[in-house]
Amino acid sequence: MGKSTPLKVALLGCGVVGSQVARLLIEQADDLRARVGRPLELVGIAVRRPDVERPGIDPALLTTDADALVARGDIDLVIELVGGIEPARSLILAAIRHGASVVTANKALLAEDGPTIYSAAEEAGVDVYYEAAVAGAIPIVRPLRESLVGDEVTAVMGIVNGTTNYILDKMHTEGADFAEALGDAQRLGYAEADPTADIEGYDAAAKAALLASLAFHSRVQLSDVVREGITSVSKADITAAEEMGCVVKLLARCTLGEDGSIAVGVHPTMVPLSHPLAAIPGAYNAIFIESRNAGRLMFMGPGAGGAPTASAVLGDLVTAARNRVRNGRGPGESSYSGRAMTDPGDVVSRYYAAMTVHDEPGVLAAVAEAFSRHGVSLQAVRQESEGEQARLGVMTHAARHSQVLTAIDELDRMPEVHPGIALMHVEGA
Ligand code: HSE
Repeated sequence: MGKSTPLKVALLGCGVVGSQVARLLIEQADDLRARVGRPLELVGIAVRRPDVERPGIDPALLTTDADALVARGDIDLVIELVGGIEPARSLILAAIRHGASVVTANKALLAEDGPTIYSAAEEAGVDVYYEAAVAGAIPIVRPLRESLVGDEVTAVMGIVNGTTNYILDKMHTEGADFAEALGDAQRLGYAEADPTADIEGYDAAAKAALLASLAFHSRVQLSDVVREGITSVSKADITAAEEMGCVVKLLARCTLGEDGSIAVGVHPTMVPLSHPLAAIPGAYNAIFIESRNAGRLMFMGPGAGGAPTASAVLGDLVTAARNRVRNGRGPGESSYSGRAMTDPGDVVSRYYAAMTVHDEPGVLAAVAEAFSRHGVSLQAVRQESEGEQARLGVMTHAARHSQVLTAIDELDRMPEVHPGIALMHVEGA
């Protein structure tokens, strides 16, 4: 193929991100050609509604037949921005069967069924790149897959959902309650009309599965991730966190245990103000990595939005196109380590338990004893009297989740403790 022969690109989906990808392909055509070594030609865009106004996009490129577009047989690169499981999976597999490399932002599909896609790509000798699937514009997939591949990553912790970070930040900075902050996020377009995937932690859990797979060279799927959303985070939790010198963040936490197993969880977490993740404001994302040799690394930036996410898509597109020009392919899935998942009960963390108790002699001692009986050591206690009752907050040292749950179970049955003990993870040792 001559240097002037274009590589043909098909785009599936032309929403917030897709329209920016199409714009950049047109506006930056000369630079992209120089960087790839051959022109990139956008030959078709699959959309659901062709009649929607799309300024700057040639209507002749639009089609509603995505199946036919990926099956043309002359497409070099397919960009999948449809999202969801089907028809995205079938379209990607068809594109691969027809010899195209694929760039996708589809975290849900890769977290649920990545291995099917990766094996198909391996067999066909094509690339699958997905930088935009985790934390939007932040380069994190390639640093884990390539830059840190000679190191041993021991932990990846991230704020990987902008909507929930916006809501929690608003609760801290403006004293808003959850419903007010969510309404605000929806008005500003940070949260979808149906915010379930964000506020219940599904979006963050899918990203956590991808991060853990990359970091630990193992297969981690969505079903392996212990998930908790932010809908039950109350103003009282926010205040308690502040009084303990922390902020509440929805944290995706992927850790390598001493026994070699992997723990992956998404939880509202009290993060000490001294931790770099505590300072991440608004809808920003950030990922914090600990590795044996590089030490501690932090990546921060916009985790969503048209142009930022399109930047990650274009980075992948140029990389896949360069590989194609050299008749090669980039690194595929690395899952050689086949690590087991840590039993959720064995996950070690600090915890904060908040409860209402009768304010009378011996109650604090009884609560402390319940923790002590199950091997849980206490780090800090705060108490506020409310008439004949007291609001008691207890921060533990690092303990196994099962030990803490057994202690809480026992507390729940004590007559001096009111029903409804709130429990939250605390980051740090
Ligand atoms: N809805 C996500 C967020 C962006 O709020 O961060 C796409 O994953």
